[in-house]
Amino acid sequence: MKIAIDGPAGAGKSTIAKRLAAEYGYIYVDTGAMYRAMALYLIRCGISADDKPGIEKACEDADISIKFIDGEQKVILNGEDVNGLIRTQEVSNMASASSVNGKVREKLVSLQQKLASDTDVVMDGRDIGTKVLPDADVKIYLTASTAVRAKRRYDELKQKGETSDLAVIEREIEERDHRDMTREISPLKQADDAVLVDTSDLGIEEVIKEISKIISGKTGA
Ligand code: DC
Repeated sequence: MKIAIDGPAGAGKSTIAKRLAAEYGYIYVDTGAMYRAMALYLIRCGISADDKPGIEKACEDADISIKFIDGEQKVILNGEDVNGLIRTQEVSNMASASSVNGKVREKLVSLQQKLASDTDVVMDGRDIGTKVLPDADVKIYLTASTAVRAKRRYDELKQKGETSDLAVIEREIEERDHRDMTREISPLKQADDAVLVDTSDLGIEEVIKEISKIISGKTGA
């Protein structure tokens, strides 16, 4: 069973995908974390987002893998668990910018397809339904208004004790959406056979209920 969840930043993909995976007993694969680990590596190497040859060269040296510890995905970058280091704004922006690169995508898509080849998965990202798992059993396109998504990120940061500016977050989300949706290779878009779920006015439980209904409608699961 393959469940693909795509959508823009802050739509609630990871929260929902994690919950669904736990309920159905599937593995949750967060593909954004892999692009983030690659971005962290590029930042550490001092490579700028517009240095295409630099990114392509560094990409070869970045060994990214995934481990599941107590059901939780850990991203390993050249032997180091970087889970705690990839959620900063700097890494978010670099991940969005460097994920336009074909070499970066090729490497990570192949890893994602390998992960899903012999197990049931809920996988979230931007191109799961369109590129990584085009034959997924269920495809969901999860979205919400920009204002709602920015407020969610703001609250998330606040909860971690980080102060931020809501207007800046909203602008950065708009920039990331634009880049993710207009890039040449595998842009973020709803797959033809994906079901649209708008979470702007829905709580987590309501979203889970709606998606569970879609899953059982499609698969009987
Ligand atoms: O889902 P996220 O915010 O952790 O993703 C970070 C960036 O990675 C996002 O701006 C675009 C890129 N990404 C991608 O291009 N393809 C994916 N399948 C997942 C993420």
